[in-house]
Amino acid sequence: MRGLNGKVAIVTGGARSIGAAVVREFMLEGASVTIADILVEEGAALAAKLGDKVHFAPTDLRSDEQLQICVDQTVEKFGRIDFLINAAATYHDKGFDSSRADWTFTFDVNLFGGVVLFQKAYPYLAQSGAAAVVNFSSESAHAAQAKRWVYPCTKSAIEELTRSQALDVAKDNIRVNAVIPGWTWSTPIQKAHDQDPDFVNGLAAQFHMNGRIGTAEEVARAVLFLCSTDASLITGSMLPVDGGHAALGPQGTLELSPPQ
Ligand SMILES: NC(=O)c1ccc[n+]([C@@H]2O[C@H](COP(=O)([O-])OP(=O)(O)OC[C@H]3O[C@@H](n4cnc5c(N)ncnc54)[C@H](O)[C@@H]3O)[C@@H](O)[C@H]2O)c1
Repeated sequence: MRGLNGKVAIVTGGARSIGAAVVREFMLEGASVTIADILVEEGAALAAKLGDKVHFAPTDLRSDEQLQICVDQTVEKFGRIDFLINAAATYHDKGFDSSRADWTFTFDVNLFGGVVLFQKAYPYLAQSGAAAVVNFSSESAHAAQAKRWVYPCTKSAIEELTRSQALDVAKDNIRVNAVIPGWTWSTPIQKAHDQDPDFVNGLAAQFHMNGRIGTAEEVARAVLFLCSTDASLITGSMLPVDGGHAALGPQGTLELSPPQ
């Protein structure tokens, strides 16, 4: 993809799953990356494995101080910031029973942390000349989900935030978009699959036109496309990366032909 070689990205949630795939794909395209994550062991191990072009900054998205350190270390080590990928999230959600503290916690991680990181990285992104921010929404943002009140709300909010951010920073040549993954191989999906593979595979087949769970690399490559200059005209957009999940209705892939 064009416009990635030699550039610098910060990837929140980059220690594992989809975020880690984004880190690896950036590396393959010749970019340098800071992993910003609370998973200290996993983040440090991934950075050590990938070499000099990857730096791990232990970062809790709820801490403004740690977010500032993450930005400072990135600039010290790599000299610039071109891309910000907000992949980190918590799935913490107790549905009806979610307390004010539960709501605050999940919004703090999923929404507010990425906003503060953008504010802190903004001076460098504005100097890039071709910067991009990619936020992570979810198929959960668009339909009711049983016993989930909080996480889907954070994802709906991210979509509106993406539009507003895109408008306000267009003058600085910073594009802001979001991806909307469908079911994607990751720690939570793997856990559900380990418990009951047939159930999870059956649902995945019904809910996605292509009949399967996506890979982290497939989502990562869409993220890189949105950062690349191949996407120079795309901003304020939400890109489903979901094997056709968003285009299906409640009937899923079930064939219900009327009797002839
Ligand atoms: N996996 C899916 O099927 C799916 C579907 C739709 C959307 N998404 C979105 O994709 C993104 C990645 O999800 P995933 O499934 O790979 O999840 P995951 O739980 O495997 O990874 C999330 C990462 O975020 C990090 N994180 C959590 N709290 C943090 C904090 N306070 N500070 C810094 N980092 C923190 C975790 O340590 C982890 O590395 C998320 O935004 C998620 O909402 C995933």
